[in-house]
Amino acid sequence: MYNAPTMKGYALEKIRDEARGIVVAILGQEAAEHIRVEFPPPGIGADLAIPLFPLAKVLRRNPNEMASEVAEKVDPSGSYFDQISAAKGFVNFHFDWTQCNKLFFEDFLASGDAYGSAEIGSGKTVVIDYSAPNIAKPFSVGHLRSTVIGQALYNILIFLGYTVIGDNHIGDWGTQFGKILAAYDRWGDEKALEESPTRALLDLYVRFHEEAVADPSLEVAAREWFAKLEAGDDKATQLWSRFRELSLREFERIYDLLGVSFDHTLGESFYNERLKDIVQRALDSGVAEWSTVPDKDASRSGEKDAAGKGGTSEEKGNVDASGGRDSTETGVGDDEKVILIPLAKYDISAPLILQKSDGTSLYATRELATLEHRVAEWKPHEVLYVVGAEQSLYFTQFFKAIELLGIKVKCVHVPFGMIRLPEGRMSTRKGRVIFLEDLLAEAIERAGEIVKDRDLSDEEKQEIARLVGVAAVKYADLSQDRTKDIVFDWKKMMALEGNSGPYLQYAYTRAASIMRKSGEDDVGELENLDPSALTEEEETALLREIARFPEVIKQAAGDYKPNYIANYLFSLSQVFNRFYVNCAVLKAETPVLKDSRLALVAMTAYVLRKGLSLLGIDCPEKM
Ligand code: ARG
Repeated sequence: MYNAPTMKGYALEKIRDEARGIVVAILGQEAAEHIRVEFPPPGIGADLAIPLFPLAKVLRRNPNEMASEVAEKVDPSGSYFDQISAAKGFVNFHFDWTQCNKLFFEDFLASGDAYGSAEIGSGKTVVIDYSAPNIAKPFSVGHLRSTVIGQALYNILIFLGYTVIGDNHIGDWGTQFGKILAAYDRWGDEKALEESPTRALLDLYVRFHEEAVADPSLEVAAREWFAKLEAGDDKATQLWSRFRELSLREFERIYDLLGVSFDHTLGESFYNERLKDIVQRALDSGVAEWSTVPDKDASRSGEKDAAGKGGTSEEKGNVDASGGRDSTETGVGDDEKVILIPLAKYDISAPLILQKSDGTSLYATRELATLEHRVAEWKPHEVLYVVGAEQSLYFTQFFKAIELLGIKVKCVHVPFGMIRLPEGRMSTRKGRVIFLEDLLAEAIERAGEIVKDRDLSDEEKQEIARLVGVAAVKYADLSQDRTKDIVFDWKKMMALEGNSGPYLQYAYTRAASIMRKSGEDDVGELENLDPSALTEEEETALLREIARFPEVIKQAAGDYKPNYIANYLFSLSQVFNRFYVNCAVLKAETPVLKDSRLALVAMTAYVLRKGLSLLGIDCPEKM
């Protein structure tokens, strides 16, 4: 048995610090601010590297010459490195593996099932606002992104010791309900609603927009219905709550399929009672004022479609990541009096409107109430809004508004780009949408193809298909920089080769199968484990990747970017596959080598499973 000391910080952090220290000691204290220790990709012959280009600029020196100076003056003896060399403006560090492999193993053994976690978040609460689909509309692909990214951030922050509160801010209020109510009042079909609620509601929504072109009275009726709803009218309220319930039931099915859950599901409507008071306080404090809206563009402020980029995502031919929130929600005419927070002085192109001329509230009004509630209830040190990039202007307005109103909490918009689907343009209003349930069903069906000829029971195959199909969809999203638009590509998503969910799951099942065959499951119980036996390049390369897991998680949390973890896991899988092909494990030459390699496999399996689980992806044991 291999006895490890208890954990205090991960070895790689100490080793990085030492690398920095070495360079600073030689190039001078000024270097401290301008150097960063990098973790080069596998296969370039350096375990850590420090580029000197930024420092060279500041010191007006030649980076190659500086690197050579370090390499000449340094004495690596007694350090974690056995070689420190210069290469084209970089200082390259090579681990002294007689020490490092032991340290990396100790990290793992000391932390067991918590390897990779940290306590950096203890005592801090983060509220994450994610998913937030709109009722009476299908769950859009944009909401899928928010759901998947939000859930990954949730898992990551929990693992780092934060108290995390997931709040699903359902869009269940707003003028679009006036439209649906007006449409249902005219053409509603009870049976269709019963059979497929969001489809039926979508049809009503589409028909409303088609007929409103020729019949302007429809818009008037919609406004009246929404006013009734806000006034608490019985019929309006009853219909609305039925639509709400039916929609939530559909959303629940999708969440089940995705394996997602929330601590709270407080929709926008939850805050209705507080809105008048909030608007009044904003007026009293002088932050908000009665005003006419300067121009039509500005009149759309406070609405997410105001986007500031001109036009909604629908109009741009992309999938509407906002789920097609209604740009007409303001319904503000040119010279009607509204209540707004002027923001021009702060170089923000449009004011934030809090109340329309007919007295009704807006998205932003409910947003304010929501934040007040969150602050009072949970005292967060940070609130994250995982919402599409098309709402960036809106969040700029909103964050400025809360600062002016004196609400003191750190708020961060965590934006993401759009998904382009192979089917082309989508538009909620025109009824051209892809239903998420259909998309997931297709993913599961395609995943079924992958395992259909395997020697497994039908039940096993079904379960694997579900895990793999859902993973493919989630991973396709999470492996991309969230700020970029992504193109949905079935082939790439489902591929067993390349950077895909199924590929990573497959790598995991390979590791899991070795462990199963070995009959071992606890690294700490491997009698003949000796880290110093692992000296082959494939072995140290793998160990080096494993050692990196903790810092990747922290980096992902720091930038709110789960793709760091995805890409890391991909790199780990590639290094593992190289090891798998070149190093016999169960048939290793000696018992020491066998146990030591088994330990590597177990660690790899752990990191793959844990890393994927942080992304919200479950692994089958076989596939
Ligand atoms: N329901 C909104 C939409 O579909 C997203 C809400 C995001 N959260 C928030 N606090 N604004 O666009």
